[in-house]
Amino acid sequence: MSILPLFLIPFMPESASTFADEVDLYFLFLVGLTFFFSVVIGALAIFFMVRYRRRRPDEVPEPIEGAMVLEITWTVIPFLISMFIFAWGAKIYYDMYKEPKDALEIFVTGKQWMWRAQHPDGVREINALHLPLGRRVKLTMTSEDVLHSYYIPAFRTKADVVPGRYTMTWFEPTKVGTYHLFCTEYCGTQHSGMIGTITVLEPSAYQSWLAGGVSEGSPAKAGEKLFASLACSTCHQDQNRGRGPTLAGAFGTQRVLDNGATVVADEAYIRESILMPNIKLVAGYQAIMPTFQGQVSEEQILQLIAYIKSIGPKQDGSAPTMATQAGAPAGALDGRSPMTPAAPNAPSTN
Ligand code: CUA
Repeated sequence: MSILPLFLIPFMPESASTFADEVDLYFLFLVGLTFFFSVVIGALAIFFMVRYRRRRPDEVPEPIEGAMVLEITWTVIPFLISMFIFAWGAKIYYDMYKEPKDALEIFVTGKQWMWRAQHPDGVREINALHLPLGRRVKLTMTSEDVLHSYYIPAFRTKADVVPGRYTMTWFEPTKVGTYHLFCTEYCGTQHSGMIGTITVLEPSAYQSWLAGGVSEGSPAKAGEKLFASLACSTCHQDQNRGRGPTLAGAFGTQRVLDNGATVVADEAYIRESILMPNIKLVAGYQAIMPTFQGQVSEEQILQLIAYIKSIGPKQDGSAPTMATQAGAPAGALDGRSPMTPAAPNAPSTN
C-alpha cells in the first residue's frame, strides 16, 4: 500500500519492496518542503510589496534593526534543513548500495534490446524475472553492448548496466504480483521496447516455477565446462604450477602483482584477466596467457566467474566485492589500468 493515497489518480507506482516506503516518504518530504517554502516566500513577497511600498517620491528606506540576526537566521535554518536532506538521502543510498548478506544472486545481462537473467540453479529467462517473496535478491549485472539501465519502479530500484563493468543492485520484494521492468537509459532504436515483467511469487510457488524451468545446469557448472573446453585447466591447476596461478581458493583474496601492487581477485579483476590477461600479472608468472576477447560472451564470463567463486573461499558478504568497484572508476585499485571495454563483437549465445 502506497503511503501516498493523496489523489484518485495514481501518484506513485505500487510499493513492492522494502525500499519503496522510505523512498516515497523522502520524496513526499521534499515535495512538501518545496511547496511550503514556495507558499511562504510567495506570500511574504506580495505582502512586503504592499506593506513597504514607496509612498513619497523622496522616501528613503530606514536602516533595519537587527539585520545581522535576521541574516544568520535565514542562513542557519536552510543550512540545517539541507543537511537533514543530505543525511537522510545518504542513508537511503547506502542501504541500497551496501551489498546484502545471504542474498539470492541472479546474473543479468543487457543486450540491444533484451534482458537476460540466470538464476543460481541455472534457469534462464528473457525480459522477465521471477522472484521469491520476502527474500533478499542481489543482481550482478553487465551489458553485452551499450549502456542500459535496469529499472523496477515498484521496487524504487534503478541501476545502470554498463559494458565492461559489473554493477550490483539488490532489493527484497514485499508483495506478490507482477510489475514493470524498464530499460531507462537510451540505448538505440528499440530502447522503448526493452521492457519486461517482474513476477513476485510465494517462496513455494517460486520453487515450483524453478522446477518447471529448463535448467542448463548452474552458472558454476556451466563455467566448469567452459573452463575445461577453453583449456583454462591446462595452466590453472596445481600440477601445472609455474605456468599459471591455481585458482582454487583465489576468489576474493589479495593478489600481489609483478609490479608490487596488490589487487583483490573480485569479479571485475577476473573478467579483466580473461579479456586482457597481461594487464595485471600475478607476481612470478610469465605473460603467456592469450586473450579470450571475442571468444567468450559476457554471459560466459559470468559463468567462469561463478565457477571460480565456487572453488574459492565462501563469500560472507564482508569480503571485498565489486560493490566498491562498481561506484569507483574501474582500475581505481591500482590507478594504472583504464576501464576495460567490452568486446562489441562478442559472440552471442542466444
Ligand atoms: Cu536498453 Cu535502453
